Amino acid sequence: MVSSVSFYHPIKRMPGKYKYSLLEYFLFLPFPLSPKKLRAELAGKTVLITGASYGIGESLAYMLADTRAHLLLVARTEEKLAEVKTRIEQRGGKATIYPTDLSKQEQVEQLTYTLLQIPGGIDIIVNNAGRSIRRSIKDSLGRYHDFTRTMAINYFGPVQLTLSLIPVVEKNKGHIINISALNVLLAPAPYWAAYQASKAAFDNWFRCAIPELNAWGIKTTAIYFPLVRTRMSAPTAAYSNVPAMSPEHAATIICRSIINKNRIYRPWWLFFGQLASLLFWRPWMALNTHYLKRKPLHAEGAK
Ligand SMILES: NC(=O)c1ccc[n+]([C@@H]2O[C@H](COP(=O)([O-])OP(=O)(O)OC[C@H]3O[C@@H](n4cnc5c(N)ncnc54)[C@H](OP(=O)(O)O)[C@@H]3O)[C@@H](O)[C@H]2O)c1
Repeated sequence: MVSSVSFYHPIKRMPGKYKYSLLEYFLFLPFPLSPKKLRAELAGKTVLITGASYGIGESLAYMLADTRAHLLLVARTEEKLAEVKTRIEQRGGKATIYPTDLSKQEQVEQLTYTLLQIPGGIDIIVNNAGRSIRRSIKDSLGRYHDFTRTMAINYFGPVQLTLSLIPVVEKNKGHIINISALNVLLAPAPYWAAYQASKAAFDNWFRCAIPELNAWGIKTTAIYFPLVRTRMSAPTAAYSNVPAMSPEHAATIICRSIINKNRIYRPWWLFFGQLASLLFWRPWMALNTHYLKRKPLHAEGAK
């Protein structure tokens, strides 16, 4: 099912297959989103979405389909990107696909060379592509590539892409949106060293760059998502019963940021998590150590 902002009302109807529990409604409070405002904001604009073949990026692409924006869709899986493009065009939207492995420096160079030729430049970049690995340090011995690979896609890829495109976004007084994870703002968790370090690296890069970007007239938004029910979170069996946001809801939050240009999105309850991380850091670490001594977990979500 193709979701659309014109149908979207989180209380009456959550597009997609996933239905919220009562707790999820409470944690991920619904909000209205004006398709009219979104269309007005995006008319004639060019929006680059990385990671548009699956999950949050795919949902976002469908939500922007009936705006008059030109969508530039990037990911590795060409057939899936072509499918997303076809569905967007069926709704009257405009999309161009750029199959690219953003973890490969030469491919990013080629992509940015092509993107820099687009007449009118780029107005919005949504840095969304990413990969996750959940693996214990013990299981990572001899797997240094887990760390180079996560850094390549979650850190170096978006840094290279953003640096190359800043001049054209600046020309349009555009907007750069970073899709981050709320875990980077909380006490660290075991098994997530590769993923969290790479997400934290780009989050920090972006936070350092924000004042400079803003000074040049580029708007910035950092979005800290909780667990989102996508292909990325699916391999972690422990998450199947944990409250999670739907990818359509996540996409709606990005749409709202496009309209409001809010500097930051984080769930309302994250503050309590951050406070607890600060106050109970030591007991949290001790609890993890105690738990791991008794019940070591095995690698999950690794590719
Ligand atoms: N799911 C969560 O719980 C969660 C929570 C917080 C934040 N996030 C963040 O949200 C973003 C989207 O994640 P998702 O949950 O939507 O995951 P997803 O369903 O696995 O989608 C990831 C997207 O990134 C693309 N991608 C991965 N590696 C790539 C590469 N080397 N080059 C180009 N594209 C690549 C994938 O496309 P191809 O495979 O076709 O390349 C896909 O389109 C990520 O940055 C993630 O860190 C997710």
